[in-house]
Amino acid sequence: MSTETQESAAAGAADGAESLSVTDNRTGKTYELPITDGTVRGIDLRQIKVSEDDFGLMSYDPAFMNTASCRSAVTYIDGDAGILEYRGYPIEQLAEHSSYLEVAFLLIKGHLPSQAELDAWVHQVTIHTFVHENLKDFMRGFRYDAHPMGMLLGSVGALSTFYPDAKDIQDPASREAQTIRLLAKMPTLAAFAFRHSRGQPYVYPDNDLSYSGNFLNMMYKMTELKYEPDPRVERALDVLFILHADHEQNCSTSAVRSVGSSGVDPYSAVAAGVAALYGPSHGGANEAVLRMLSRIERVENVPGFIEGVKAGNERLMGFGHRVYKNYDPRAKIIKKAAEDVFEVFGRNPLIDIAHELERIALEDDYFVSRKLYPNVDFYSGLIYEALGLPVEMFPVMFAIGRTSGWIAQWLELVDDKEQKIARPRQIYTGARTVDYVPMAQR
Ligand code: SDX
Repeated sequence: MSTETQESAAAGAADGAESLSVTDNRTGKTYELPITDGTVRGIDLRQIKVSEDDFGLMSYDPAFMNTASCRSAVTYIDGDAGILEYRGYPIEQLAEHSSYLEVAFLLIKGHLPSQAELDAWVHQVTIHTFVHENLKDFMRGFRYDAHPMGMLLGSVGALSTFYPDAKDIQDPASREAQTIRLLAKMPTLAAFAFRHSRGQPYVYPDNDLSYSGNFLNMMYKMTELKYEPDPRVERALDVLFILHADHEQNCSTSAVRSVGSSGVDPYSAVAAGVAALYGPSHGGANEAVLRMLSRIERVENVPGFIEGVKAGNERLMGFGHRVYKNYDPRAKIIKKAAEDVFEVFGRNPLIDIAHELERIALEDDYFVSRKLYPNVDFYSGLIYEALGLPVEMFPVMFAIGRTSGWIAQWLELVDDKEQKIARPRQIYTGARTVDYVPMAQR
């Protein structure tokens, strides 16, 4: 390393500059990489070359374990401390005092609404809950036993064909219209998917009811003239929607941002989020947890199941998290809400299996050493089951709540001048310049 680079490196280190001094041992050259917000910019690596025609260095980060993709002010998570805040407000306070539509306003608009703002917001969402009649025909085209999440995925994407004006993503009025439509119609599509899976007639929205009350109406109304939701169930659902509303750059939100970066309409971007959420490692975990608890069947079987997990035969679904290395704060709230719901509907015996799994896992070094704690999906399914929902509907419930977060993050993406179409690079491992082989010679 030349003397001046050694001195500049020493000087840089001495004055605590917000930078990295990087020496490329292949050339002896030293580079100063600025540090901003605890990150170095990937593109700053490209200057590190071995020759003028060298492409330069890239970072390699499969599954983005250590890569920030954007700047966001929507949700803050401290994984080690188990902290979750929407626009700075602790999730515990929002779950106790707020409503889902108020939280949706907070996430999307960036501040808590005045009473007039909230009234107008609720009115706009309420009067947009209907969907075009053709969507009912579209959903009737699914098999009788189609998974509701697959139906939701298809029908959210189909919404883009009913609102061609949604393509004008630079028009604030269009963005506002699609925001309201997505929030308003997601429960309607979800309920239609549920009714389809039961072979029951679709129920139209009832604008006299709250957001969660109307969802229950569209799910469960039968021959009664007017469905009257149990207020305790209505509140439990609203809290669950709040808890699922956003979670910074999770897999499905990253999908919404990546697809949205192509300039596509928000329905298509949100459909990508629904697709990602469907996976058992993500929003499909709540369904997998219930199937797992049912398979364990009795508390006495828990130790044997845990041994199977530690042997690597399967995962303890509902446990572990990419960010939380502590108890997921949402799981704590849901665990308590489950007890409240059981007071109404009777105790679900599977919760005793869940408690025993948690008790053992929180003491066992396999889980403790890997910092595996219950996540949002571990207890939520027990509430959904108590509410009479089939396990296939559990990820659909997650999608309803997450719609507000997907919208908030998409809106932030559209306005972010640093963003452009997402297009990662790769490390190529395949063959090169291979000559074509005629069939007769293969
Ligand atoms: C959600 O990102 C978000 O914010 C997501 C979410 C949101 O609100 O959007 O919070 C919602 O998706 C919650 C997570 C729901 N998924 C599950 O409950 C499925 C079970 N959990 C795992 O598959 C896993 O924990 C993930 C997918 C959640 C996180 O996986 P990571 O961060 O990639 O961790 P990993 O797979 O690298 O695991 C690290 C170690 C491994 O062991 P070793 O290879 O080091 O020996 O921990 C083990 C894993 O085998 N491990 C588990 C485990 N999770 C991780 N072992 C048993 N059971 C588990 N659940």
